[in-house]
Amino acid sequence: MKAPIVLKFGGSFLRGHADLVRAVHAIYREVRDGRPVIAVTSAFHGRTDALERSLRSLDAERGVRSSERTRAALLQTGELETANLLSAALDRSGVPSRVLEVPRFGPFVEPGTEDPTHVDAKAIHELLERFPVLCIPGFAAAENTPERGPALLGRGGSDMTAMVLGRDLSATIRLVKDVEGLYTSDPARKDAEAGPPRRLARVAYQDALSLGPDILQPRAVRFARDHELEFEVVGPGHIAGVRGTRVGERPTASRSAPAPPRPLRVALLGLGAVGARVFAELQSAPDRFEVVSVLVRSIPGRERPAAARSLLTESYEEVLAAAPDLIVEATGGHQPAAGRIRTALARGIHVVTANKVAAAKAKPHLEESAREGGAVLLASAAVGGALPALETVGRLRTGSRGDALVGIEGVLNGTSNAVLDAVAKGSSLAEAIEAAQKEGLAEADPTHDLDGTDIVHKIELLARAAGWPAPRWLHQESLAVGGEDAPARRVHVTPECQLRARFIGSVFRSDVGPVASVSLQLAGEDCVFHGVNGSWNALVLHFESGATRTVMGRGAGPWPTATAVMGDVYAISRRIALGELAPEAEALTETEEEGR
Ligand code: NDP
Ligand code: HSE
Repeated sequence: MKAPIVLKFGGSFLRGHADLVRAVHAIYREVRDGRPVIAVTSAFHGRTDALERSLRSLDAERGVRSSERTRAALLQTGELETANLLSAALDRSGVPSRVLEVPRFGPFVEPGTEDPTHVDAKAIHELLERFPVLCIPGFAAAENTPERGPALLGRGGSDMTAMVLGRDLSATIRLVKDVEGLYTSDPARKDAEAGPPRRLARVAYQDALSLGPDILQPRAVRFARDHELEFEVVGPGHIAGVRGTRVGERPTASRSAPAPPRPLRVALLGLGAVGARVFAELQSAPDRFEVVSVLVRSIPGRERPAAARSLLTESYEEVLAAAPDLIVEATGGHQPAAGRIRTALARGIHVVTANKVAAAKAKPHLEESAREGGAVLLASAAVGGALPALETVGRLRTGSRGDALVGIEGVLNGTSNAVLDAVAKGSSLAEAIEAAQKEGLAEADPTHDLDGTDIVHKIELLARAAGWPAPRWLHQESLAVGGEDAPARRVHVTPECQLRARFIGSVFRSDVGPVASVSLQLAGEDCVFHGVNGSWNALVLHFESGATRTVMGRGAGPWPTATAVMGDVYAISRRIALGELAPEAEALTETEEEGR
């Protein structure tokens, strides 16, 4: 496992519920790289002050000051609220997470102090083996006594929570704010005499201490200095290596930051269940993305988001004429989708697709067009939704220390999984399919969700990501053929039973090459697939040594699919900003100067 990263989301970033989706994007970018995340939350902007005011006015009315214990217990609730809402937002987007209870895991303080002594690093590491993301309320602490009474880490104390976690877990520390790092003066204010504020590339601890408590908690900076912890201050669309400010031992240096790079021009093909969600998520980051055109089959077809109406077209030529840097394809089916993707790539337009049919059937040709056009094609959402399946297989195909990947198996279709669960609970097959369609899990025509073809496409994409030749097919079972006798109708495994019916796709290397199958199997309580319910997917990788690695995520539905699409969009945007892909990155023209 990679070393964890602590991401602290400040009150300037988390102003309200609408900002949770950007926090999810920032977290997911790490998760898909296989990096465990500990997300530290501040309270929503202004929340702690409001709680403090309520307590003071109550105290004033009765003429008695509440105890520190009461104050600590009350003020913590702001951070606890955001930690739980962030965990719920991660769940909605298909990313597994858990909220850490401060009395159990820390940070701990000696009674009457606000300086953390430690967190329970061993227990947190154990949880990170099971959950890719742990959310923890910042600012909150527990007394290091058997009662574990409530305590605080001082105003701005979420910074301190990040520092103590970073120290005890040997984790990278990143503080996420609403601007791209630390500046010589407030970037929101224009001061004609001083000129435009300059972003600081690096800040020495000593200078960080003078920035003021609203920017960084001085006590947290001193903690970092005393424990030799370097940390970064970054913006919501952080791009590692390009923007942000590093705080540490080295002397302060500023950057002559020109105007930020223009937003990426994105065209969207399809505005259905997935496309509409992707549209909303692109719009949540207007500094990074501008949607320039939206292709649909028929404009009067269905209700459209108001903001998309002026961008709608039925003509692909018009989409290309809008000069997008990147196209997100969310229409579905083999053709005309594959042809459109190919045309875009050949013209140097990057493409992100959620379409497993087009990707599985045409990937080699599409990759050739991408090479010719100098463009990139990514298809994370085509397998596993928010479960980063292709990325994990691509990263671990040689295994750690040469332990080769020999097999891949998983629950890879959310619709069939949800249908099997619903039938086991007593639904009819037709009711179960209708419910999956209403949730936006099933394809427009759900035949391939149930006859195993969708899983076949995903297994083929996974085998390709592993660098293997196309697999031989041993067996493809169907859940839905056979009328009254269809396997899905005959599932009599009730929820009380220790066994669960699961539709499993697998591919294993053999001396005749990779061999694949799709089959209905029984999962006992000790089987990892037992707990994979509803729209969740799970992927198990088998290595030559006998070691296994399991990854989970929601595999279907608009939110998880959009999460995976946005992961790809951010990955391309990062490579553009690093100057690896066209259009050219202005960010790299920055020059660094010593001093402020
Ligand atoms: P929907 O049927 O809800 O939406 C499809 C959209 O594409 C509609 O806006 C439709 O236009 C448009 N469209 C379809 N065909 C054409 C065409 N030939 N020309 C122009 N526009 C067209 O599908 P989903 O959003 O559920 O799925 C989209 C893609 O995402 C599919 O490839 C699917 O396999 C994939 N996917 C879906 C997941 C899910 O959970 N739903 C998960 C992972 C991947 P109009 O609005 O006019 O009908
Ligand atoms: N219909 C697919 C499923 C969507 O249910 O898994 C995700 O690929």
